[in-house]
Amino acid sequence: MKILSVVGARPNFMKIAPLSAAIQKHNAGHPDRPIEHILVHTGQHYDVRMSDAFFNELGIPMPDINLEIGSGSHAEQVGQTMIAFEKVLREHKPDWVVVVGDVNATLACSVTAKKENIKCCHIEAGLRSRDMSMPEEINRLVTDRLSDLLLTPDRISVENLRNEGVPEEKIRFVGNIMIDTLEANRDKASSIDIHKLLAENKLEESKHNNHFDESKAFAVMTLHRPSNVDKTEVLTPLLGFLTGEVASTMPLIWPIHPRTAKQLKTFGLWDSVLSNSNIYLLHPLGYHNMLKLNMGARIMLTDSGGLQEECCILGTPCLTLRWNTERPVTLREHGGASVLVGNNVERIRTEFRHTLSNEGMPARPELWDGHTAERIVELFATEFYE
Ligand code: UD1
Repeated sequence: MKILSVVGARPNFMKIAPLSAAIQKHNAGHPDRPIEHILVHTGQHYDVRMSDAFFNELGIPMPDINLEIGSGSHAEQVGQTMIAFEKVLREHKPDWVVVVGDVNATLACSVTAKKENIKCCHIEAGLRSRDMSMPEEINRLVTDRLSDLLLTPDRISVENLRNEGVPEEKIRFVGNIMIDTLEANRDKASSIDIHKLLAENKLEESKHNNHFDESKAFAVMTLHRPSNVDKTEVLTPLLGFLTGEVASTMPLIWPIHPRTAKQLKTFGLWDSVLSNSNIYLLHPLGYHNMLKLNMGARIMLTDSGGLQEECCILGTPCLTLRWNTERPVTLREHGGASVLVGNNVERIRTEFRHTLSNEGMPARPELWDGHTAERIVELFATEFYE
């Protein structure tokens, strides 16, 4: 049996690492039912810090094929990926294409697979923000509509798919594969020296205070969604709050996404971030370093989907800088650690203060237990083996 799986952008790597390891483990234990695994990288993310670093530290085998698509508009990325991926499928003829998450690679490769009459499996199926201005929502909807096997991380996602009329036999609730990676890497992350982390990843121009006191509370932030960083009327007040209020309360560690750095420069906001001695501006971080920061943070401010989920397991209070989420299971009202604050400064201020004066450990969602990849491989090795 031949499975071809796809990665394209940073959040895909931690979802493929456990799948790849579980396939290897299966093959070692079941030589009679081998699964051949081909890994394709579309090349949507290509910087060492956004891509290669994750392969090295998560032990993902180097991709068998890299399509080297790179940056571009959505249509350019999706179109070029489809053209290149079609050739790969015609040459390798897999039984299944496995896509993860909701990035442009996920969309492009699921569409191409189905047009080549190849079965498609979507890991992280059924998430819905119901916000069609999010490119990821379009990617999720199309991929789920086309997929033959939809593997969901939680029961809310199962309900979403049922409500859209997806036949029951296509849906399997397997848990959250990204938590497999978190559980497998906790110990390694714990042993990291935070001063070394800050020194090694410091953005050269950042003028942050080099005397970081680890025993005191600190905040961590990530920001990259177009809805937060592409408009000056949104980014300017947000930055005012971060520099004026968050960074005056506690050190703010900010590994910065290339898109965000570019926009801050365009809007003339870069110098105010660089010159704040309590904002620790860092390059994009590898997996272990980010996990280390999340483990120690008093509060997380983020518009990332994956960090919302990780905060939920680590118990880090999380202000989600979005108006909606495709991951409601991570919200406080469902027992999680996160609260939606959008990009309205008043609302962020209120929740920031509320969160700092409240404690509480979130509940671990069902099947976020570190064994999701094994369940997925078991499905392929039995019910869906060919
Ligand atoms: C993509 C995903 C988003 C995910 C995010 C994580 C889509 C639609 N979006 O958004 O869901 O949360 O990845 O990072 O697929 N760039 C670099 N180096 C790189 C990659 C990008 O400098 O290795 C810069 C380029 O200027 C590029 C910009 O970042 O134009 C945006 O990259 P892109 O891949 O288009 O989208 P992301 O914002 O990263």
